[in-house]
Amino acid sequence: MTSMTRIGIFGTSGMAREAGDIAWALGLEPFYVARDEAELRAWSFSAQAILEQDVGHYANMPFVIGVGENNIRKAIAERFKDTLGFTNLIHPSATFGFGQREVLDRCKGTIVAAGARFTSGIAAGDFCIFNQNVTIAHDCIVDGYVHVAPGANLSGNVHLHRGSWVGAGAVINQGNNTVKRVVGENTVVGSGAVVTRDCEANAVYAGVPAKRVK
Ligand SMILES: CC(C)(COP(=O)(O)OP(=O)(O)OC[C@H]1O[C@@H](n2cnc3c(N)ncnc32)[C@H](O)[C@@H]1OP(=O)(O)O)[C@@H](O)C(=O)NCCC(=O)NCCS
Repeated sequence: MTSMTRIGIFGTSGMAREAGDIAWALGLEPFYVARDEAELRAWSFSAQAILEQDVGHYANMPFVIGVGENNIRKAIAERFKDTLGFTNLIHPSATFGFGQREVLDRCKGTIVAAGARFTSGIAAGDFCIFNQNVTIAHDCIVDGYVHVAPGANLSGNVHLHRGSWVGAGAVINQGNNTVKRVVGENTVVGSGAVVTRDCEANAVYAGVPAKRVK
């Protein structure tokens, strides 16, 4: 019997299980990393799981962080940046314009879920999550630790700053070749929003057209 290659997945939430499903689709066996004993017990009946404190024993395994919350994902990445090797997890059904897959492959710790589509000239940072069926159009820049939730659409020339979060089904209208449409650092765009103007940093935007609500 041949054993499957394992991939370590931090997290025990729905996002972690969804990351596990991407692993299975790639022929990899998910190996979950639980924060504490209670989380470990919740997992161990159905899946292979270990405690975070023991993760050093598995340092030869590649890891991803299956945590949707940007700040928590960032904290885990920083805690283990010198001791673990982080890899990308890209669902086989994701599609890419010319040369674009190679750009994503140069990322570290980035998760691309089923049905995501990247067109052309897109720059992407580390430890991002591009969830199911997102569309990322030409010349977008996505900094590190960004989460683009299911079905969201970045039209061309959008710049998502570090730690920003785009809700499910939101649309970020396009910028242009000289000025990108910006979503500021750590800003949240609500589900279903249509962003027609730049969004300030550390804020929450919602609605059509999107307005600052926090
Ligand atoms: C916008 C959002 C971040 C606000 O969350 P919050 O700070 O907890 O705010 P609340 O739920 O208290 O809502 C505040 C107000 O905004 C409204 N609101 C919430 N979400 C909204 C949305 N997506 N669009 C329009 N209005 C929204 C609420 O109805 C409420 O209005 P009220 O004060 O008149 O009652 C959140 O509702 C949201 O859209 N999250 C994204 C969910 C998502 O995409 N999940 C995918 C997971 S992968």
